[in-house]
Amino acid sequence: MHIRNPSTYHPPLMTTTVKPRILTGDTPTGRLHLGHWVGSVERRVALQDKYDCYFLLANMHAFTTRADKSADIRQDTIEIVKDWLAAGIDPNRSTIVLQTEIPAIAELTWFFAMLLSFNDVMGNPTLVHELETKGLADKYSFGFPMYTVGQCADILAFRPELIPVGEDQEPHIEMCRKAARKFNQLFCGIKSDAKDEDYPRLGGVFPIPRALIGRIGRLPGVGDGKQKMSKSLGNAIFLSDPEKEVQKKINKITTGRQSPTEPGDPNNILFKFVEAFITDSARVAELKDRYQRGDNIGDGHIKQELAVAINTLLEPMRARRAEFEKPGGDDLIIDIIRSGTARANVVAEETLHMAKQAMKLDFGKRSVRWT
Ligand code: TRP
Repeated sequence: MHIRNPSTYHPPLMTTTVKPRILTGDTPTGRLHLGHWVGSVERRVALQDKYDCYFLLANMHAFTTRADKSADIRQDTIEIVKDWLAAGIDPNRSTIVLQTEIPAIAELTWFFAMLLSFNDVMGNPTLVHELETKGLADKYSFGFPMYTVGQCADILAFRPELIPVGEDQEPHIEMCRKAARKFNQLFCGIKSDAKDEDYPRLGGVFPIPRALIGRIGRLPGVGDGKQKMSKSLGNAIFLSDPEKEVQKKINKITTGRQSPTEPGDPNNILFKFVEAFITDSARVAELKDRYQRGDNIGDGHIKQELAVAINTLLEPMRARRAEFEKPGGDDLIIDIIRSGTARANVVAEETLHMAKQAMKLDFGKRSVRWT
């Protein structure tokens, strides 16, 4: 694979980008699964041509709960890039960004922390849910709630138009929009009744970016369909799973249906998967119809068809991944991270400078040199 040389990027080029920008990211906590694919990654791959895309490795966020596992976080960061590239993210078109090497993000986090209220942060439904479900109780770090403010900075550092994310991220995006409006009102003189889409035209530093929610908001995990697909619940089909493993996991889906002639519910867990992964819509309609009527169609048969469809999706990913699993693969990934991060710093520094100008903090212009 050809890796861009960071030294070929010049600030003036970046300031005249014509394509609108996208920013999104993942916290490196482990391998990506099908839930990530239908929730966001699929969209990212598809939008690479039309948009100037920035994909952020939120490795600082991984430290909010795993500060004692820095070696794991480093490896997970590398592995998630392998997943991205396998999925079809092209580092020659899109920019891969390492959060901890973008100083502007850390600085902007402070600015936005001043604009959001304590209750905005602590009442963020996704954060509340995480505090409840991750067993963090009263022992979570100060940095844990802070990540939500950091996420506003991750996004706004790139002044994107769109943020392709899964449903669970919507409260974070809403917070980010709030921070952007507040900044523009306070420091750029924009009236509070201005329409979101008018902010850039009225002289705002930050656009008010929109979330782009995936095709499937919530993919269930394999099992009875009650839980969403998640690595920690052990019910995930990973993008890197081998063919046989996919079939084995699909077989774990349970519907409670007893026989091929029993009328079934065409909205049950099995059909959530059918709708997500069988691409021929006429075939999906036919399966639903026969299932509903109990027209001699067994769950086992559907599972087999499903496994074939999923393996068809994953096969090209396996092939692309093989390139990075060879010796030296990790070094290649690190080169890609470095090259993207160098490019990303140009944009983020430009944003930071604009923000500082608006805040009357422009006592000089700094540049970040990346080597
Ligand atoms: N919080 C996101 C997640 O856990 C990851 C993330 C960090 C992110 N920064 C972002 C997503 C900026 C979109 C935009 O999945």
